[in-house]
Amino acid sequence: MIKIPVAILGSTGYTGAELIRLIENHPVFEVAHLGAHSQAGKMAGEVMPGCAGKIADMRLAAADAELPEDVALVFTALPHGAAANSVKKALDAGKKVVDLSADFRHQSHDTYRAAYGVEHPHPELFSEAVYGLTEFSRQQVASGRLIANPGCYPTSSLLPLAPLVKTGLLDTSSIIIDAKSGASGAGRSANVGLLYCELNESVKAYGLPRHRHAWEMEEWALGFGGEPVKVRFVPHILPMNRGMLTTLHLSGQDTGSWHGVLQETFANEPFVRVLPAGVLPSTAGVSGSNRCDIGIAVLGEHEAVIVSCIDNLLKGASGQAIQNANLMFGLDETMGLSMHALWP
Ligand SMILES: NC(=O)c1ccc[n+]([C@@H]2O[C@H](COP(=O)([O-])OP(=O)(O)OC[C@H]3O[C@@H](n4cnc5c(N)ncnc54)[C@H](OP(=O)(O)O)[C@@H]3O)[C@@H](O)[C@H]2O)c1
Repeated sequence: MIKIPVAILGSTGYTGAELIRLIENHPVFEVAHLGAHSQAGKMAGEVMPGCAGKIADMRLAAADAELPEDVALVFTALPHGAAANSVKKALDAGKKVVDLSADFRHQSHDTYRAAYGVEHPHPELFSEAVYGLTEFSRQQVASGRLIANPGCYPTSSLLPLAPLVKTGLLDTSSIIIDAKSGASGAGRSANVGLLYCELNESVKAYGLPRHRHAWEMEEWALGFGGEPVKVRFVPHILPMNRGMLTTLHLSGQDTGSWHGVLQETFANEPFVRVLPAGVLPSTAGVSGSNRCDIGIAVLGEHEAVIVSCIDNLLKGASGQAIQNANLMFGLDETMGLSMHALWP
């Protein structure tokens, strides 16, 4: 089978390492270039204990190194702010790009500035970036050359919200999203708040009064309906490596029909599973897989709670990035992503 050489910039981070793992098991994509920042110049195996074989023996290139000519696709798994220039450079070199950072997830410079507090060096690329929530943007992803891979919290929230926003049955003015993430969601960089003793045996909320993903959720949820969307979003960090559980407190009309709406929307989706009515998902059911599990509990005619679970590093980042990349290259969307959750 013909191979497609790919580059991973930010390969030494958690999402970068997950991309390596997925691509090593992908029948078509092949790792041809690994970029790093503080670890550049070292061998991949020195920096990432999980790497073996030919990947371990690859030297990590500097973040601004020239990309090999035969590389057709670049994954940018870099911090926001750092990603934009690498994306521009890769596009100018004729590569397709899937950007895992937030740098191209917004449609206006004002929203990006409000959410991230910095100026964007290439707002001229906003209009061509495709927001890659794959289940709702397949055609645009397939023809795109720059995919903005959604954030992990927005992925777990928007998958169940989008079909309900579309029906007009959901009250979009008062959506409460209470979410919990494993510590890998914060990345691998040194941070006192992520030390074992700070995290272990503890759960803490963060990101208030307004976490940057709230802008992303409101912007894209609006696109599914047209009515203004207001979310109150409170993220928490849990003492586990990976996994994300998002609880959505919702109100609206005819909540008894919502389970059917979700079932119908996702009936043929390979990576979204709507559980039987009243059954709620757990992170253990999805960790290690590219799946999103959704459960709903109807509390009354006008109130319901939806719980959505993903692996933040898979459907929340690198798995969805591969799903999008498959579409960009005309491959089966599920290629290289068929693994079940890790159990136990
Ligand atoms: N973690 C998640 O669950 C998750 C989910 C969805 C989206 N994302 C997004 O994906 C991106 C990567 O996240 P991550 O968790 O993998 O981060 P991470 O573990 O902190 O890794 C960051 C990577 O970027 C490199 N890097 C750091 N500063 C850089 C700079 N100034 N210029 C160039 N490269 C730099 C690092 O290289 P060195 O190691 O060599 O310093 C490392 O390879 C972020 O934008 C994040 O918001 C993360």
